[in-house]
Amino acid sequence: MMHREEKIWLTLSFGMIMIFMLITGYQGFALGMAPPSHKETIDPQKVDETAPFNEPGIKQISENEYEVVMTLQLFSFTPSNIEIPAGSTVHFTLTSKDVVHGFEVAGTNINAMVMPGYVQKITQKFDKPGSYLVLCNEYCGAGHQLMSTTITVK
Ligand code: CUA
Repeated sequence: MMHREEKIWLTLSFGMIMIFMLITGYQGFALGMAPPSHKETIDPQKVDETAPFNEPGIKQISENEYEVVMTLQLFSFTPSNIEIPAGSTVHFTLTSKDVVHGFEVAGTNINAMVMPGYVQKITQKFDKPGSYLVLCNEYCGAGHQLMSTTITVK
């Protein structure tokens, strides 16, 4: 025989599980949980053929403003070793060509996940001259710890 209190607790915990499942289901399907803010998608098999990633690189778009179109792949950043003048605002447009990578720029607030199939956009102003280390902070395989580059602000 089950005690009355036992039944109450069983019902409560079952009810909570159902509520959590409903919330998770709602977020997953109705809200379409995906990388935050921008939900731009891309065919991860066709990154090389899809604009703007068919021409990764750095482009000056106005005085002190640059656009960087970058692909991340095992285990590198293209383009790598970017150089910009101090005081520049940089608009990054990123995607991954294979697995989930990270885009962290030491000394800034940039810390993003770059997923295949999604386009990640980040804007950052670089005021202080120096060499900023760019790291992949998502484990992506055997060469993960080698996946880094720099942004040089002059
Ligand atoms: Cu790319 Cu870790």
